[in-house]
Amino acid sequence: MPVERPIINSSVPHSARIWNYWLGGKDCYEIDRQVGDQIAEANPAILDVARAQRAFLVRAVEYLIAETNIRQFLDVGTGLPTANNTHEVAQRLVPETRIVYVDHDPIVLAHAQALLTSTPEGATDYIDADLRNPDTILEQAAKTLDLTQPVALILLGIAAHVTDDSVYDIVSRLVDALPSGSYLVFCDSTEVVHPEQQRAMVEQWNEASDNPRINRSPEQLARFFDGLELLEPGLVSVSRWRAAQTGAQAPAEVDDFGGVACKP
Ligand SMILES: C[S@@+](CC[C@H](N)C(=O)[O-])C[C@H]1O[C@@H](n2cnc3c(N)ncnc32)[C@H](O)[C@@H]1O
Repeated sequence: MPVERPIINSSVPHSARIWNYWLGGKDCYEIDRQVGDQIAEANPAILDVARAQRAFLVRAVEYLIAETNIRQFLDVGTGLPTANNTHEVAQRLVPETRIVYVDHDPIVLAHAQALLTSTPEGATDYIDADLRNPDTILEQAAKTLDLTQPVALILLGIAAHVTDDSVYDIVSRLVDALPSGSYLVFCDSTEVVHPEQQRAMVEQWNEASDNPRINRSPEQLARFFDGLELLEPGLVSVSRWRAAQTGAQAPAEVDDFGGVACKP
């Protein structure tokens, strides 16, 4: 990939950098740490959300590689490279797996080299694009992925940034372009477990950031899976999606619901 010189604004907090901060990373600015701390103070559970979402990604990718014939992933809203990036999880199991990452944050672009460490047998690519331009994403992804073969589309914590109902058409456009046997791996924030804190988090976020977000109800999130076959256990808090049960109790729920579905 040609290395571009992204314009990075260090005075406005960015979702990818705050997320990285909550995951324990260092690729963030003072403004991201300040807003990240303010949000975590009002809603300490957000740290569990960030970790649970990452763990969901790992379990979903491992499941698709081990139990299905999926060998291609399109991960939109990638975030900054961290531990267990999609290609690392997938290629550990099947080195031939091909992965395309997409994000619109210039700092993710600046760190994209760390996502391009494919095995020689497989491939990774990075596209600097906006979810709101699904045709651009598909056109660019087709340079690395064979879109006539099944693909797992990953949308974790990104649809919340498209705050109106146009998001349903955008996601449908991506899913419609993939063949039967493809999968959607999806999750997003809710206000079910800690409603007041989650509402406060979105308010704080929207005051500070130029990329607003919303929480959606599980019913609204279920619409993203319309026409698809949801795998067991359905649409659940991501901490409970096929999680290993260590004690008598299921893992605590977090305000981040999602699931994995197959395109018939
Ligand atoms: C909450 S982070 C989630 C990161 C990663 N998917 C994960 O689960 O760890 C949301 C990511 O979506 C990206 N994003 C937000 N709005 C976007 C848009 N309209 N187009 C592309 N990427 C977007 C942000 O830059 C950020 O990296």
